[in-house]
Formats: sequence, structure tokens, C-alpha cells
Amino acid sequence: MKVILDTDPGIDDALAFILLKAMPEVQLMGITVTHGNTTVDKCATNALQLVELLGMREIPVAVGASHPLIKELSIAEETHGGTGLGYAVLPKSTVTPASISAANLIIDLVSANPNEITLLCIGPVTNVALALLKEPGLASKIKNIVSMAGTIHHPGNATPSAEYNVFCDPHAFDILLHSGIDLTIVPLDVTYKCLFTKTHLARMASAKGSILNFIDRSTSFYMEFHSEYQGIEGCAINDPLAAAILVKPELVKFREYYVDVELRAEKTNAKLSADHFSALNRKPNAKVAMEVDVEGFMDFFIERVNAL
Ligand code: BDR
Ligand code: CA
Repeated sequence: MKVILDTDPGIDDALAFILLKAMPEVQLMGITVTHGNTTVDKCATNALQLVELLGMREIPVAVGASHPLIKELSIAEETHGGTGLGYAVLPKSTVTPASISAANLIIDLVSANPNEITLLCIGPVTNVALALLKEPGLASKIKNIVSMAGTIHHPGNATPSAEYNVFCDPHAFDILLHSGIDLTIVPLDVTYKCLFTKTHLARMASAKGSILNFIDRSTSFYMEFHSEYQGIEGCAINDPLAAAILVKPELVKFREYYVDVELRAEKTNAKLSADHFSALNRKPNAKVAMEVDVEGFMDFFIERVNAL
């Protein structure tokens, strides 16, 4: 399966990188970096360090949007730390970014592999929106998009009603929703059930030392955030769940909905709504993961990373 990863690393993004490395079913064609958990420059530094850590130097890493399409930039250093990777410190990378923008890399790879590429989006989707705006024929050549985004019934983590990735660039997400592309949404409703704890970490003792150390140091920070700000024990590993369902879709149960995003309201900006009762009588535009086999996913994540 050919995949482009669009990401804002970010602690849980980094865990998704590790899981992708542990999924030989996935052929990672490129990594495109966006603003999100921190600035695009810091996210790019993190992506380059991660590809080095994981021995994925051959995969092009293209730097993308430094700002959302319309609204002001947001970053989340209280959640992911000053560097974006919590307490983890990775060696300076010797990998250099690709000499092409993220949007152009998406356009080039998709055009060269029509209807073969899945976009796995685990940050604000500004890069994908820019690619679609630049190349109107692109949508019909993208096989599908899996996006960790939004929340349907679960409280928001950026505002009371909005999830962070959609909150960062709701206008970009609106473009995805109305692009006609086969879209799978992995919202907080399922990801906030997947809480990674010290007990899970203890089951990873046989993982490669450098990777285990990274997971330990990064998630320690992330767990402190969840405890202090959200009263949650453990940390929600949102982005790895979206990666996992590429190869194990049976980990979740989907509902098809017509989904829209609020762009104008002051207090509920970036909130997703799913037309549960077909009140609008519109064709569904997304498959939304609404239930998850939590232990099945944790077992998958732990077993795959242990086997790396
Ligand atoms: C999403 O926002 C970011 O903080 C995480 O990396 C994840 O992609 C969860 O709302
Ligand atoms: Ca992310």
C-alpha cells in the first residue's frame, strides 16, 4: 500500500512514524510536514530526526505550510513541549529536506501513481488543501485519505467542541470534506479511548533501545500534560490509531455520515457535525471511526514496535 504521511510531529505523530516503520505492509512514498503541534520549522527538524532514528533516510521529507490557509497560527507547546517531542532529545539529523514543497511533493507523487496513493493525515491538513487548490484534477487521482481529525460526540481538546487538527486549519479541512475524495475520519471519539500508560510501556521492554528510550521520554511529557490539563491517566495516542487502521481496519467500526465543519461561529468554530439522522438528506462524504477495539489496538502497537 502506497502512503504519503502528512504530519506535524508532535509526540503522537512520532509514535505514528515508529508504527509505520513497523508496518511493512505500508510503502511510505513521502513525508510532508505542516505547522500544527509546533512551528513548521520545528516539526521539520523533528521529522528529519525521526527518519534518521528509524533508518528511513531514503524517504523524502518535504517542508510545507507555515501557516493555516486563513486563520492565525496556533501551536501546542504545553501538549508536546518546546521542541514538539516532550522530554525526548534526538541527535541532530544529517538528513536534509527535499528541495520541493510539501504540496508539490503530494502533487508529483499522486500524479505519478494515479489512484494508488493513500494520504495519511495526522496534522492540520493545510498541505493537502494547498495541493488540491493548486491542481484541481488531483482529487480524482488520490486513492483515499485517512485523517486523524475532529470529534463527533467527544468533547474537544482545543476548544470545548473542536479537535486540535481541525481547529488549527478548519478551512483546509472544509476543502477535504467537500473534495469528493474517499475520506476516512479518525476522531477523538475513538482516539481518546486509546490511552497509553506506563503499564503499556513496561510491555515494550524488548523494543530496540533507542526507540524505547524515545517512547519513554516523549510519552512521559505527554502523560504529564494529560494528567495536569485533562485529568487523564496515560496519554491519548491519536495518530498511531489512524496509522494502524491502514492495515487493520477491523480495529474500528465505521459509520458513514455527511460531515461538515463550522467556519463562521465564534464559540464553536472548527466544530465538526455529523448528520446522524440524515436530517439534511445529503450523501455521506466520510466514513467515521466511531468504535474501537482498544486492547486490540494496544496489542498491535506494542507487538509491532517490539518486533522492530
Ligand atoms: C491531534 O492533535 C495533535 O495534538 C496530535 O498530534 C493529534 O494529531 C489530536 O487532536
Ligand atoms: Ca498530529
